[in-house]
Amino acid sequence: MRSFADLPEYDDGVAVSTQISRAPMINLGVIGTGQFASYFIGGLRRGGYDGEVLLAPRNADVASTLACKHDCVVAASAQEVLAGADVILLSVRPEYAEAALANLSWEGRHTILSAMAGIPIDDLRALLPGVGGIHLIMPGSYIETAPGPIPLYPPAPELMPLLSCIGDVIALPNEGAFNAAMVSLCASTWIYDLADVLASELERHGLEPDAARALTLSNIAGPASFALGLPGRSLLDISAGIATEGTFTRTGLDHLKACCFDAPWREAIARLAESLRPGA
Ligand SMILES: NC(=O)c1ccc[n+]([C@@H]2O[C@H](COP(=O)([O-])OP(=O)(O)OC[C@H]3O[C@@H](n4cnc5c(N)ncnc54)[C@H](OP(=O)(O)O)[C@@H]3O)[C@@H](O)[C@H]2O)c1
Repeated sequence: MRSFADLPEYDDGVAVSTQISRAPMINLGVIGTGQFASYFIGGLRRGGYDGEVLLAPRNADVASTLACKHDCVVAASAQEVLAGADVILLSVRPEYAEAALANLSWEGRHTILSAMAGIPIDDLRALLPGVGGIHLIMPGSYIETAPGPIPLYPPAPELMPLLSCIGDVIALPNEGAFNAAMVSLCASTWIYDLADVLASELERHGLEPDAARALTLSNIAGPASFALGLPGRSLLDISAGIATEGTFTRTGLDHLKACCFDAPWREAIARLAESLRPGA
């Protein structure tokens, strides 16, 4: 258990926190008990969160699985979720948000965590009259088994005891930055497809499938972990220090650069960023 001494450090509006402090336990309510809620709750329990989790009853299969697996309570209605919890995770699909949130009695004591991709804070304010705080979060599905970053906007020091159970909270200074973090989450899934290409080519050139998969994934995780440990050093500088003139690594990298390997990745990011621009 980490302590209050590790409270979040704010630097130009960006906070990174990994602490689990001894604040009063937060009870969590969930409206939208599907895939996202399952891995979010799994991540909380993995990280030691032992507060009450109250689930909306819709999707009885997922709700009863979560109740058994992660010690959650299935409420009789969404309104009962609001009655029993102060922090409410909203994780219905964006197209169902209006229907799911209408006719509920929100109160100033409610703090909202919205995982509903692409619904801006101003729209949420209109859907949630009378609530206290509204925050956007966007962690990846792997948080159920491994710590991961939790993009958060706006910052919420009072939610750190809850969110830091899952991983490092990356508090973003504005909604544009939050949207860019959401694109980063999308790109993290593209890495599976890139890894599949790498592994299948390694198989074609002599590796057994299990070895190709393990080597490929470890050789993605290893450099990522190494570079995270060197926050002041540019990624290109790390690469240049390894892929020096005359090495096999440099030969392959020169070929990729000559083929403009970065172009489709830049284009995919630009497309998503554009679609998330206000008014797009
Ligand atoms: N899955 C991801 O990896 C991921 C990642 C980041 C963000 N998100 C966000 O998380 C949200 C949920 O995505 P998901 O993949 O978890 O979808 P999902 O598996 O379909 O879960 C949505 C849940 O909401 C329930 N629901 C629908 N209408 C409702 C209502 N009126 N009241 C209460 N519950 C209602 C659904 O129940 P029924 O099945 O009975 O309709 C379902 O259990 C989306 O907004 C998405 O943008 C998802």
